Amino acid sequence: MSSRKRCLISKDAIARRVAELGEQISRDYAGRDLVMVGVLKGAFIFMADLVRALPFAVEVDFVRLCSYGAGTTSSGEVHVTKDVELPLKDRDVLIVEDIIDLGLTLDFLRRHLLTHQPRSLKICCLIDKKERRQVEVPLDYVGFPVEKGFLVGYGLDCGEQSRTLPEIFVIDKD
Ligand code: IMP
Ligand code: MG
Repeated sequence: MSSRKRCLISKDAIARRVAELGEQISRDYAGRDLVMVGVLKGAFIFMADLVRALPFAVEVDFVRLCSYGAGTTSSGEVHVTKDVELPLKDRDVLIVEDIIDLGLTLDFLRRHLLTHQPRSLKICCLIDKKERRQVEVPLDYVGFPVEKGFLVGYGLDCGEQSRTLPEIFVIDKD
């Protein structure tokens, strides 16, 4: 089967939406002790832009999760391969993720970070891919809702390919 990439979200549209999310987050967290926890590797570009869209400094940390399963599906079993290093107890924590699909990854991460007893825990997810959701996860900030499709670019990869493209593409299979 061959596949082609089609641009779904332009650089300008991403920049505008990230600026809007930055405004919303800065209103909600003004004067608070915010720690943003990015999910490696997919969220690294989004997170880098998002922190620079805030008018105040925040602390950042990262987790890396692994869900065993080949190719474009997750198996349901999520493991932490790199944990947070900053103390989160009694702090306002915002998870920054690239995309939610089944919901298993963010559901796992939410539960995991709650064990650190943060003061608050919210989620900012660039893309909410709705069609295949199995677990409902509360998303506090969403960049772009999409119905379905496999997306790459702006941090999102397919087998480590296409991650550094500045736009978001959908892979059309034909
Ligand atoms: P889920 O919500 O547990 O299914 O898993 C979400 C994770 O699967 C994301 O963090 C991505 O790593 C990966 N993922 C799901 N859909 C896509 C996609 O369209 N492009 C790239 N990665 C994806
Ligand atoms: Mg991911």
